[in-house]
Amino acid sequence: MSPLRLGVAGLGRAFMLMWPTLAHHPRLRLVACADPRPGARARFVQDIPGAAAHETVEALCADPEVEAIYLATPHQHHATQAIAAARAGKHVLVEKPMAVTLAEAEAMASAHARAGTVLMIGHSHGQDGPVRHARRLIAAGRFGAPRLIHALAFTDFLWRPRRPEELDTAQGGGVVFSQAAHQLDVVRVLCGGRLHSVRAQTMAGRGTEGAYAAWLAFEGGAATATYSGFGRFDSDVWMGWIGELGTPKTPTTPGAARARLDTAQEGQAKLARAYGAGPPGLPAPEPPAHHNQFGLVLVQCERADLRLTPDGVEVHDDDGLRLERTPLPALPRAEVPDAFVAAIRDGVAPAHDGAWGLATLEACLALLASAREGREVALHCQTRFRDA
Ligand SMILES: NC(=O)c1ccc[n+]([C@@H]2O[C@H](COP(=O)([O-])OP(=O)(O)OC[C@H]3O[C@@H](n4cnc5c(N)ncnc54)[C@H](O)[C@@H]3O)[C@@H](O)[C@H]2O)c1
Repeated sequence: MSPLRLGVAGLGRAFMLMWPTLAHHPRLRLVACADPRPGARARFVQDIPGAAAHETVEALCADPEVEAIYLATPHQHHATQAIAAARAGKHVLVEKPMAVTLAEAEAMASAHARAGTVLMIGHSHGQDGPVRHARRLIAAGRFGAPRLIHALAFTDFLWRPRRPEELDTAQGGGVVFSQAAHQLDVVRVLCGGRLHSVRAQTMAGRGTEGAYAAWLAFEGGAATATYSGFGRFDSDVWMGWIGELGTPKTPTTPGAARARLDTAQEGQAKLARAYGAGPPGLPAPEPPAHHNQFGLVLVQCERADLRLTPDGVEVHDDDGLRLERTPLPALPRAEVPDAFVAAIRDGVAPAHDGAWGLATLEACLALLASAREGREVALHCQTRFRDA
């Protein structure tokens, strides 16, 4: 079957992380992009000879060469752009968070259902190999039901260069929209998908949420999810200094990210981390040495504790401790394009579909509401994880 002809909307940081995988993926062909920045468009056509560059997502949607779109634009554009793509008959892989409001997420899911196109959410850490491996162990029933899940991640998220809207909760800013979208996704995969309620407290930073602690009830158990982006304690110390992207990382110094950030130059610094800032040309394919990871995740099942590591799942049970290695993808984060292409070409329904993304967003919004209103918030749109 011919490779899926993919267009990309948003040539920023997310595309920077994904593009070598998309460009080298055997079942994909990058054919076009859309971005308002002329420099990024010029680099795209230089890096990918023969590809087209459009100024707007509307033009990308109208491009007949494009079968599917990877939507890596700022959160606030996801809904209108995903809906425009559905109307043009294009499949969509949209970055997390799926949208900023539930109404937007519902409109996206129904636009794609009406068009008969695939809507998938990713990349998200619920798609990482060790998370899926642990879910398979849980679903197989060997260790009994998950009763308690503990997820803790401490990073410098808040002090990395940000766009103004990334620091405005009303526009999807703060660690809940951007990082609980990963962490609650991981928790939902592990517990089977359906959260009942959320109770949470947030901690303010840079005018938005800089940290949170949440208690999440699910059928037969509960999870605690803690995240901090203040750049003091770094939870990668617990992962043997393998970073979020599965690559070795120099141990960080508390406070260094804050000291490094010059807020007067923040826009420029953000662009320096985006696609097009480095040398031109497609980097050689680099098979990963470890999996992506999102901090300490420990699942207490009835008969075993499972700890996720960058190499697999550590099983702690009455027979002792062993590491179940998780096979690595051929390219970093390839699980996401693999599932997207399989959904379109092979008809394999993705676990991270529109309904799943909407449910994760519901949990993130409930976390914010709980912290704001000082009460437990019940959830009503939760979906079951689609075990293979
Ligand atoms: N999964 C991950 O690990 C990960 C990592 C980073 C970002 N993200 C997600 O990717 C999305 C983008 O974040 P980012 O950090 O890459 O932002 P960014 O600012 O680095 O990049 C955004 C890009 O979109 C372009 N853009 C802005 N408005 C546009 C429009 N209307 N149409 C087309 N292009 C437009 C900008 O010019 C820029 O090139 C966010 O939703 C974010 O949560 C995910």
